[in-house]
Amino acid sequence: MNHPATETIDVRLGDRSYQVVVGTALLDSLGERMARLNLGTFCAVVTDSNVAGLYADRVMKSLIASNFKPTLVTVPAGEQSKGFVQVKKICDAMIEAGLDRKAFVITLGGGVVGDLAGFAASIYYRGVPYVQVPTTIVSQVDSAVGGKTGINAIGGKNLIGSFHQPRLVLADVATLRTLPEREFNEGFAEVIKHAIIRDTELFARIARLDRGNLTPLIARNVAIKAAIVAADEHETTGERALLNFGHTIGHGIEAAAGYGRYLHGEAISLGIVAACLISQKHAGLSTADHEKIVALLRQFELPMKLPEDISTESILAALKTDKKFSEGKIRFVLTPAIGSAFLSDKVTLEDIRQAIEALR
Ligand code: NAD
Ligand code: GLY
Repeated sequence: MNHPATETIDVRLGDRSYQVVVGTALLDSLGERMARLNLGTFCAVVTDSNVAGLYADRVMKSLIASNFKPTLVTVPAGEQSKGFVQVKKICDAMIEAGLDRKAFVITLGGGVVGDLAGFAASIYYRGVPYVQVPTTIVSQVDSAVGGKTGINAIGGKNLIGSFHQPRLVLADVATLRTLPEREFNEGFAEVIKHAIIRDTELFARIARLDRGNLTPLIARNVAIKAAIVAADEHETTGERALLNFGHTIGHGIEAAAGYGRYLHGEAISLGIVAACLISQKHAGLSTADHEKIVALLRQFELPMKLPEDISTESILAALKTDKKFSEGKIRFVLTPAIGSAFLSDKVTLEDIRQAIEALR
């Protein structure tokens, strides 16, 4: 088979720098690549119940062939796994397998597994290294890069977590071929987000997507994220916060709907539509750009209408516990035109309420 070229993107973070390798047929090279990182011998491969049957065997074989001693830990698939119960399960399994501070973790799966097992790695023996092997669009373009790990709390999304940068990210785009259509499409909410905040050329490229050659598209998204993370690793200057475009209301909807009802990207699609409405009011976003964004979300069959049974009040309640709320004030990401974004403190709860109502 003729595989398109592999692309490597550097995430430049001083002594925490690492590479993101994007291409096809990469899974079987994991062991070899791990050997070059000089980590320990013992590791946990954490995956979920859908991905285990598809790819765990290849990953385990590749690691064993390079003399690693991996233990497989499988959590139930889905957002409900992103909590303390599964953190404990992962840590207990690692202790039972005799893994100590020299061990490391490999996350194999989507953003749920990456966030969850990355968080477990950040607290196990006060922190062991980990490597991300993302297998969804969301995780390859976004969650596996940048070191944000975490779990959900009753009050909201990702409220408990850490910054813990991986040592390597191996994004094998061939794994995306087994993604069900709904899971494939949801990933494009984050891709469209990157285009809206940074890249008009990417915006145009998404519309003429080549599913047979996803490497350049994934790599471009990784490059956008890597540059933002390198500029503002701990989200202190406001630059990294731009990645939250569509996420304030999107996270509120995801939590209010009950984790698992919407896939992450689907809730973010609704959040993007609402953020565009507020951007028209407070940032001068043109109707033409707004319509282009909606058309692109529609191309991936992403939701744009909010069902009546998810009340505006329940979304607002979830949103108030969001990390982007601080001392009653919200930092909201707006776009004045496709390709750029900025942080605003002018957006009121009433603006948000109206934008949610407009989704009905
Ligand atoms: P997910 O991990 O739940 O994966 C979606 C579904 O696809 C799951 O059922 C999974 O089992 C299945 N799956 C995964 N890979 C597959 C494959 N190759 N073939 C077939 N099925 C496969 O969800 P996701 O959308 O990947 O990630 C969403 C999570 O990522 C959310 O929890 C979100 O908060 C988080 N996130 C984190 C960051 C960050 O910076 N840390 C950024 C964006 C999103
Ligand atoms: N996904 C948002 C961030 O990594 O900052």
